[in-house]
Amino acid sequence: NGSSNSGRGALIVLEGLDRSGKSSQCARLLSFLQGKGCQVEGWRFPDRATGVGQMISAYLANESQFDDRTIHLLFSANRWEKTLMERKLLGGTTLIVNRYSYSGVAFSAAKGLDIQWCKAPEVGLVAPDLVIYLDVQPEKAVERGGYGGERYERIGFQKKVGEHYHSLRDSTWKVINGSLPMESVEEQLRELAMNCILECQGKQLANLAW
Ligand code: TMP
Repeated sequence: NGSSNSGRGALIVLEGLDRSGKSSQCARLLSFLQGKGCQVEGWRFPDRATGVGQMISAYLANESQFDDRTIHLLFSANRWEKTLMERKLLGGTTLIVNRYSYSGVAFSAAKGLDIQWCKAPEVGLVAPDLVIYLDVQPEKAVERGGYGGERYERIGFQKKVGEHYHSLRDSTWKVINGSLPMESVEEQLRELAMNCILECQGKQLANLAW
């Protein structure tokens, strides 16, 4: 089921506020798809392992400072440096990606940067086949064991990020109520992902247009 087909893989992105459950759900979805025999990998942005990623990681931990525009471009560069993505997809591997360009735009726009300016460096990246937004109220997210103390983990800021996420929704987005029990979220994710993997077989890879 998915292992023997010769089509391309799907690019499936999970988005949501900090502590919305993305990491747990990505892990669960990944092992479910692997169990089905799918050729699949889990990715995340920022990828803190690269040189650019280490700069981002230090910034998020408040160990270094960057101008808002500079850090925005570093987050974007961190996506551009993953040139392996297109090859993986064309080679038949489905990617479950924790955060993508939408995080880039929503978080920077929440600081007051112009939204078109924020979108520009993302244009031309591989476009997701499906974006799943885990919708959780910022108040609920904080209750979930609290924030870890990284730079953006403040409720007022997260509220603004949520508003910008809302304005980015397009036809590739599906919204799941992330406040539902974990098993229910997981079930919905599985169905959306399985459908997407089947449907994208006949579709060409596209680029983010914005
Ligand atoms: P993480 O907790 O999922 O590793 O993400 C780290 C933080 O970076 C999170 O608060 C969201 C933020 N972020 C951006 O501001 N721009 C981006 O492009 C990405 C991918 C994440």
